[in-house]
Amino acid sequence: MARYYSEKLGAHGVTPQGVDWNSEDSQQLRFSQLLLVMQEEPREPLVLDYGCGYGALARRLIAAGAPFRYVGFDVCTPMVARARADVRDPRCSFTDRESELPVADYTVASGIFNVRLQASSEQWRAHVVKTIDALARHSSRGFAFNMLTRYADARKLRDYLYYADPGEYFKLCKQSWSRNVALLHHYDLYEFTILVKLGSEPKALLHP
Ligand SMILES: C[S@@+](CC[C@H](N)C(=O)[O-])C[C@H]1O[C@@H](n2cnc3c(N)ncnc32)[C@H](O)[C@@H]1O
Repeated sequence: MARYYSEKLGAHGVTPQGVDWNSEDSQQLRFSQLLLVMQEEPREPLVLDYGCGYGALARRLIAAGAPFRYVGFDVCTPMVARARADVRDPRCSFTDRESELPVADYTVASGIFNVRLQASSEQWRAHVVKTIDALARHSSRGFAFNMLTRYADARKLRDYLYYADPGEYFKLCKQSWSRNVALLHHYDLYEFTILVKLGSEPKALLHP
């Protein structure tokens, strides 16, 4: 995985194509969905960007101007080196070591489940479930991630990519992590985003 993304960075540099996205618009649209998990956050949240690439989300948070702190994590060391060199804001730090990660208020992960290379769907599914567990364990208030959808146009499917069943992962998050889960599948990409809010219960609207 690290080699795959390292080659993308080498070929395309610090651009959306350098993290295997086809445009900045789609990269930013994904961030807009993921950041909904921390909407209405009143204070200065600590955000963990799991699979941060060259730090595009950190740049977006800086540009947005709201208070935040940010840790970017990526398995691809050259990505982390690039992010460290380019994003020089004292509120942001980057690492390639999972053992160094804090428990954040919110964890977001954009694009970490898409490329399965030679892993079978079953092997990749097990990896995804384990990684969603890690996202949850590193978060106190919520986490969010996106995946390619199995409702994609059949002509566009690629055999080295993983197309997930949105209902399966919605159910997993509901059953394992929270009663407050949103599935967003409405934003014109062949993808979906799942938002999981932790530590709050839905309020009953009707008397028992
Ligand atoms: C599609 S790129 C997106 C990068 C960034 N999130 C963005 O949207 O600009 C996915 C990134 O996740 C990293 N990655 C993939 N699986 C990971 C994992 N299990 N843990 C940490 N990083 C991972 C890759 O090295 C790559 O840099």
